[in-house]
Amino acid sequence: MASAATKIMEKTARWVAKQAQKRAPVGGDNRFLEGAYAPVASETTSTKLKVTGTIPKELDGILARIGPNPIHAPNPATYHWFVGDGMVHGLRLLNGEALWYRNRWVGTDKANRELQRPLVPGKRHGIVETVNTNIIGHNGSLWALVEAGALPVEMDTNLDTVQHGLFRSDAVGAFSAHPHFDPLTGELHAICYNATQPNRIHYHVIDKHGQLARRVPIPVKHGPMIHDCNITRSKAIILDLPVTFSFASVLKGATFPYKWNKRHAARVGLLPRTGHAEDIRWYKLEPCYVFHTCNAFDTEDGSVIMDVVVHARMFDQSIQGPEAQKITLERWTLSPNSDQVKREVISDRAQEFPRFDERLTTKDYRYAYTVGADLNQPDSPQPLLRHDIKTGQCTEHFYGPTKVSGEVVFVPRSEHSAENDGWLLSYVYDLENDTSEVVILNADDLDGEPQAVIEIPVRVPMGFHGNWIAS
Ligand SMILES: [Fe+2]
Repeated sequence: MASAATKIMEKTARWVAKQAQKRAPVGGDNRFLEGAYAPVASETTSTKLKVTGTIPKELDGILARIGPNPIHAPNPATYHWFVGDGMVHGLRLLNGEALWYRNRWVGTDKANRELQRPLVPGKRHGIVETVNTNIIGHNGSLWALVEAGALPVEMDTNLDTVQHGLFRSDAVGAFSAHPHFDPLTGELHAICYNATQPNRIHYHVIDKHGQLARRVPIPVKHGPMIHDCNITRSKAIILDLPVTFSFASVLKGATFPYKWNKRHAARVGLLPRTGHAEDIRWYKLEPCYVFHTCNAFDTEDGSVIMDVVVHARMFDQSIQGPEAQKITLERWTLSPNSDQVKREVISDRAQEFPRFDERLTTKDYRYAYTVGADLNQPDSPQPLLRHDIKTGQCTEHFYGPTKVSGEVVFVPRSEHSAENDGWLLSYVYDLENDTSEVVILNADDLDGEPQAVIEIPVRVPMGFHGNWIAS
């Protein structure tokens, strides 16, 4: 429970930020409010969906995706893509049919006040007002997630908000947009930070019933922004990298006050899953930033291997969003014989949103799926990339000369099918026609025609993360 002193500090921080935002310049351009990123104005339910091809009968569930979609037009001078009100998009598939598409704002208190709706029950935590970064299934419900303080938001299978809370637990505390699900235990593992606690982060484990099974405090400096983490069978992996809380940005009116910090030494920590902060082994590396990890696993010699998308720098010049910098897909090895991260480049193409067959979480694996990401030309068509990590081969799929895909999700054909035997699903946006569709590709035949294309009756803005949530 937040102490009275913490609550006073949070109120003060929110007031200072609002005053600075009032003083900030107004207007100008912001590419995260235009083109493929432009928000939609309303919620839609549609049951008449045009399908080309054949939807696999095995797909019984919802393809959920979330992203920022401001309810009211923000000030372009200070708007940051990471803080727009969250909107969830869902496509329900069953028996080879597309039953419906829905989009709904996540029912945070800010959103419900602006939409003149009643607030939903549950606990509250922190000063973050939006929940917009990931949507997962756990313990029979959908949970919209964000980092830096706000609790998860539970949504039902019609995408209506049910309540706020740390899953089924009575506890409160910051969570993460990127918990990692362990298929062997049914647990979610996450490294979590709170924007108003610069000197401490937490390792949280949520069990398969939604209860808080472990909370391990870990001391840090400067308030690092920790967007993702990873797990192996034996370790949780902590990315303590040089993007940290910036009070100077707050005073400039930034709505997302994190900046590149050259005083903050980059390090990666290995925390035994049953251990405490003093058991962490830290590894040094050159300054860089990682939003997203792919898979990670232990090796027989006691090393840990983790694949990551690495940005050379982040939030160095602009307060409006991710900056165009060199991006690489890399394999990082953390060996018991060194205190330095060993870095090997898998691919030097600009890409993001790494995914894999998540039945293989914590195990050695072969295929990683990413999407091209040219931040210099955000409205340029981009391919899906399938990396064969064993051979180094990269296979592309272009969705069309004017099309760009959001994050792809791999769904296996069956519980026991081989790796890469299944489908890659994503929301694809047509830059020229301003329309969206869901494309289902056969993961082992990226050169072939799509398995199915489902037209979405409204545009789906480019957003963040999505998952296949099986019924
Ligand atoms: Fe993310």
